[in-house]
Amino acid sequence: MLPPELTAHAARLGEVRLRELMGADPGRAASLLMAHAGIELDFSKQRLDPSSLAALVAHLEGLGFAARRDALLSGGIVNASEGRPALHTAYRHGARVQGSDAEHLVDETQAQTRAFATRVRGGDFRPAGKPVSRVINIGIGGSDLGPRLVADALADHAGAGPELRFVASLDPTDLQHAVAGADPETLLFIIASKSFSTQETLMNGQAARDWLAGHVGAAQAGRHFAAASAARDKAVAFGIASDNVFDFPDWVGGRYSVWSAVGLSLEIGLGPDVFAAFRDGARSMDAHFAIAPLARNLPVVKALVDFWNRNLLGHPSRCVAAYSARLGLLPGYLQQLEMESLGKSVTANGEPAPLPGGALVWGGCGTEVQHSFFQWLHQGGDVTPVDFIGIASHFASDDPRERVLAANMAAQGAALLDGVQLPAGDDPALAAQRSMPGGRISSVLLLDALTPGTLGALLALHEHKVFVESVLYGINPFDQWGVELGKVLTKGILDGELSRYDASTRAMLARTGFVSD
Ligand code: F6P
Repeated sequence: MLPPELTAHAARLGEVRLRELMGADPGRAASLLMAHAGIELDFSKQRLDPSSLAALVAHLEGLGFAARRDALLSGGIVNASEGRPALHTAYRHGARVQGSDAEHLVDETQAQTRAFATRVRGGDFRPAGKPVSRVINIGIGGSDLGPRLVADALADHAGAGPELRFVASLDPTDLQHAVAGADPETLLFIIASKSFSTQETLMNGQAARDWLAGHVGAAQAGRHFAAASAARDKAVAFGIASDNVFDFPDWVGGRYSVWSAVGLSLEIGLGPDVFAAFRDGARSMDAHFAIAPLARNLPVVKALVDFWNRNLLGHPSRCVAAYSARLGLLPGYLQQLEMESLGKSVTANGEPAPLPGGALVWGGCGTEVQHSFFQWLHQGGDVTPVDFIGIASHFASDDPRERVLAANMAAQGAALLDGVQLPAGDDPALAAQRSMPGGRISSVLLLDALTPGTLGALLALHEHKVFVESVLYGINPFDQWGVELGKVLTKGILDGELSRYDASTRAMLARTGFVSD
């Protein structure tokens, strides 16, 4: 439920022109700006001011946030529906688990993945007598999106390691493209699956092994496989050598798992030191999240801004525009992190949630998206908050393209804010169509530079932001029961048990020849 203080602030701020709000307080730009771990959050173009922010902070405090955060970071059962903690922070040593089983397990498995990655990268792991030239990660959801994003974002930091490819889709061309041009004897497949029972991943793993067996022989093929999983027995039963199975516990959620053994492809492709620096960046954000005052706490404030826009101002979606080709996969990564975590309308107590849960997240890569959907953002009938993700060093770059990229990002935020009203002149109809309403809100997340550390901090910022929002909504962000029914119904279709399906679905299956009439 929304407290009246917040709705009163929203009513007050809803009547002010955004540009006037900005001019009203000379200290505004500085007070709605904060930075940590090489990331600056500028939310001065939001329809917010220090007093409404203070009211949001008070609301969060009133929900017992401090105790909830402590429970998260110290291994409390914050995922009640599955009876587990959510200790992904232990993998960057940002959790308070010193001396515990969790710390021991993390240390042990990190030593194992580092040693394996060093062997593969150094050419000492030779499944067919040749060094590995390409690592293909087979996984989906959290076992794909995080590693894929980080591999792309930090490709310039890879040095001389095996190249990385990713397979997630059941479309056979995905695997075909991943192996194209490679010497089969130099391939290493990593099956990343927490459950080791995900249909897409198991089918792709089997297809990869069959393909490889066709080139190197069935007896040899299994040597080209490793796994990252919380179900070791299933990975071994699949035929992967026990020494090549890297564990992580069930208290690491899939969409929070890139820091764990699920990051094995990254540890190989980017190198253990780059992977460690990525985790260190996250640890720095963990420490900040744990102790910074709420009003100056980056993940907390980002969550409050997003909550405000969604629930007080009524904007159901948020656009993420990344002004770096290297961060082109960020919107897709955030979609899973935020929408699988916050897309719920029942509280952790099983009651109907009074608020609708987190926003739809979508976006793309600037400046490309300026030539596609930005028209809709500027002149469409809906107002959608935009997060611009930029690289500060681009503004002063020696490369004019980076300077223009950065200038475009700054210009888009200004254009959304200002709009333009053209005089009616001789052609009022044309003037009206060319005018832009303005008053459209945005934030900027500016990374000092795109480094392993700032990327780690950026992802941890969003993980913690999601947790804060989950407290505001009263929901469990660590389960995902909503994806289960579709899996069951797929199985029913494959088993041909169609009596429970609706007429439309049955008709399609008949029409397409999946089943005979
Ligand atoms: O179906 C959703 C999901 O469970 C995600 O939460 C998870 O990241 C993905 O599937 C893959 O699961 P797994 O790692 O167990 O294969």
